[in-house]
This record gives sequence, C-alpha cells and structure tokens, in this order.
Amino acid sequence: MLVSAKEMLDKAKAGHYAVGHFNINNLEWTKAILETAQELNSPVILGVSEGAGKYMAGYKTIVGMVNGMLEELKITVPVALHLDHGGYDACYKCIEAGFSSIMFDGSHYPIEENVAKTRELVAAAHAKGMSIEAEVGAIGGEEDGVIGMGECADPKECKMIADLGVDFLAAGIGNIHGKYPANWKGLSFETLDAIQKLTGDLPLVLHGGTGIPADMIKKAISLGVSKINVNTECQLAFAAATRKYIEEGKDQQGKGYDPRKLLAPGAQAIKDTVKEKMEMFGSVGKA
Ligand code: 13P
Repeated sequence: MLVSAKEMLDKAKAGHYAVGHFNINNLEWTKAILETAQELNSPVILGVSEGAGKYMAGYKTIVGMVNGMLEELKITVPVALHLDHGGYDACYKCIEAGFSSIMFDGSHYPIEENVAKTRELVAAAHAKGMSIEAEVGAIGGEEDGVIGMGECADPKECKMIADLGVDFLAAGIGNIHGKYPANWKGLSFETLDAIQKLTGDLPLVLHGGTGIPADMIKKAISLGVSKINVNTECQLAFAAATRKYIEEGKDQQGKGYDPRKLLAPGAQAIKDTVKEKMEMFGSVGKA
C-alpha cells in the first residue's frame, strides 16, 4: 500500500539520512526502482512530473500500475507516489487519482500567492492523509538552452511557507536540475543553515540531485536535507546502457530485438544508479 511521505521523512530527519526521490517514466523505471528499494530495505519516493504523467497516459494509469506492482512484486518497504513540481490543477488531479503525496510548486508566484495557494492545498492534501511539499526560491535548470544558476531562497519566506503546515520544503540553495555546468559555484550551505535555523524539524528537500558530489550531499544532510530528488542521472545511465547494447549489435543477434531484452541493460543501469544513491543518502536498511 502506498504511504504518505511524512513519516519516512520525519524519521530520516531525526536519523540524519535522506530518502531518495526518483522520477519515473515508464514501467521499466518503476519496477527497477521498487525492486532496488526492496532489495536494500530502503524507503523510497517515486516522483512523477506533469510531463511524465501525460506520457504515462495519466495519473490514474500510474496509480494502477504502481499499486499493482506493490502487490505483485511483494514490495513491503514504505513507498510514496509523489507529484513532482505540480501546478495547482495537477495537485487536485493527483489528490483525486490516488497519489499518496504531492508537491505544489508555487515558487514562480509572488510570495503572497504562493502562500495562499499552498495553504489551500495543504488542507486538501491532509484531508486525504497525503503529504505535501512546497517550494520557495525557484530551482534553476536548462530552459531553451540557457542554464539558470538556481536562486537562493529567502529563509524568512521559507519560514512563512513552513508555518502553513507543509510536510517538507524544497528551498533553492543554488541547486539546478540536470547536469551542473563546469562553472557551477556549488550549494550554498550558508542559505541552507539559515533556513534550517528558522524551520527547525521540518524535513528539507534537495532538488537537482544529479551530479552533486558525495561530500556536498553529506553536508546537506547534516544541515537538514531529508529528501533528495534524482532524475537526470537515471536517464543518463539508461541511455548509455541502451546505446552500448545497440552499438554492440546485440539487437541484431538472435531475438535481441525483443523489448524485454533490449531494455534490460537500461533497467539494470537504473538499478545500479538507485543503489549507489541510496547508499550515499544513508537510507539502506531504514525501511
Ligand atoms: P535532476 O534531474 O537534476 O536529478 O533533478 C531531479 C529533480 O529535482 C526532480 O524534481
């Protein structure tokens, strides 16, 4: 059964480790992540962006697939199904569809509007026993070929949003989605420290987990990060393994064109990436 992410993240914050949020794109992705979490006895969060939701034929399809897998694969570790960077309408759709957690990303609104919408969605999510993440300070990334450097959130605004009763909070600390450019200045631990001082026990979320070096990840966890989002790194691992299979001509040998064979190396690469991250985040054995 899917669970809200609140309890697993409160435990992570108290235990000084982080739970991995891994974005899913299809059945292979989902199965690879769930099997790895079960093998390592780790809690896990499956992230679904609005785009991935559309790609996978809608939120209800995803809920059906994930619930089916939990039962058929006998997954007993805590699993949350979480909307990633949801807009206002998508949040309501996922509340209705049977997700167990949502993120409302109001970071692009003026703070008053972010507060008003987040307040309303906190009530709607909690009424269904779901957890909710909010965001302050937009997280950068590549848009139309231009890489935004990632804002640093205002700790006072973080406190305003935290006080609305959100279950965990994403705050920009110079992190960005996708690959980090060579001239990236690294995470702002000063900002993170200031945010944690004002938000206390609230679990903090680090987006853009791809390519952040292990020492920065460990330091971020020591300053209150309890959820780390990883997406691009699984995509890169999947693509590299699939490319290798094709370049070696394996799709042309025997029944190598069978999608169950063709996609197997990519699925294994996702598993290896998820394992590496769970070990780095310290969530192994914490289910
Ligand atoms: P990356 O793609 O950089 O790993 O970021 C993932 C993320 O933060 C999803 O919300």
